[in-house]
Amino acid sequence: MKILVTGANGQLGTEMRNILEKECPGVTLYTDIAELDLTDAKAVGLYVVKNEITHIVNCAAYTAVDKAEEDKALCAAVNVDAVKNIANAADSVGAKVIHISTDYVFDGTAHRPYRESDKVNPVSQYGTTKRAGETALIALAPDSIIIRTSWLYSPYGKNFVKTMIALGKERSELKVVSDQIGTPTYAADLALAIYKILMSHQWVEGIYHYSNEGACSWYDFTKAIHRIVGIVDCDVKPIPTEDYPTAATRPYYSILDKSLIRATYGVETPHWEESLQKCIEILTTNKE
Ligand SMILES: NC(=O)c1ccc[n+]([C@@H]2O[C@H](COP(=O)([O-])OP(=O)(O)OC[C@H]3O[C@@H](n4cnc5c(N)ncnc54)[C@H](OP(=O)(O)O)[C@@H]3O)[C@@H](O)[C@H]2O)c1
Repeated sequence: MKILVTGANGQLGTEMRNILEKECPGVTLYTDIAELDLTDAKAVGLYVVKNEITHIVNCAAYTAVDKAEEDKALCAAVNVDAVKNIANAADSVGAKVIHISTDYVFDGTAHRPYRESDKVNPVSQYGTTKRAGETALIALAPDSIIIRTSWLYSPYGKNFVKTMIALGKERSELKVVSDQIGTPTYAADLALAIYKILMSHQWVEGIYHYSNEGACSWYDFTKAIHRIVGIVDCDVKPIPTEDYPTAATRPYYSILDKSLIRATYGVETPHWEESLQKCIEILTTNKE
């Protein structure tokens, strides 16, 4: 087994490295854009052949949801063309791909958690390109596994948890959207689920949903972050989406049904508040 983790400096990529280096050191190569630009088809093909890669975990993506509305070409290059390059390279050597996608492939009009078979209808450039990445991968490397996740955070890189801790310490008042409902996902939990799939010796291709358990709004999420960190001097106020205009439209509801991945791979989906506590413990210990 020779694993390639791409986007290895990102949130999920870093958590994959944390697990793989501890549990099975020496079997994985880690690349980010500096080592291997995934939009370079030839380079991706050569890398996979030369290093005799058997499994690719694609954690790379263009993830700046609002910027993507303007930066359309780069967003499509990373979220669609790069995925095609990975699929072609994998197909050429018979390697298997685990690719990460998003809850933003849905429009958010559902009234129950989204299943893998539910109709997609992305409402942003980011969501549209992530969906196009899914369909390209399924067409070119149909034995791939795609995992859609939501509201990812970790001690690494930029994310909502770190932003809300910083703002909570700086400001006496904060207005946060309370009518978009989803589930925060600790990247370490998702990385552990991916690790279990890799080590399961069972490969069931297809799309899966993975997030933490439970549901909240961005406002609830912020309140929980501040409570766990011990921020008491910042008054967090709920506001509707219309009072916080952003370049990209976001789904109002994006809770994912995780039953398929649990039934197929026996992975755990801890409650989001339990995982948030763990991440904040690491953040406050490391002062990252
Ligand atoms: N973050 C979320 O809230 C969220 C929610 C749902 C789904 N997801 C999905 O989950 C996955 C992991 O997200 P994440 O938050 O860990 O992402 P991230 O922290 O933004 O990391 C993505 C990594 O990919 C790298 N990358 C960008 N273009 C590349 C290229 N051409 N070649 C190679 N690497 C490239 C980035 O490098 P640079 O930083 O230099 O660009 C970055 O290190 C993605 O597929 C994302 O779409 C994320």
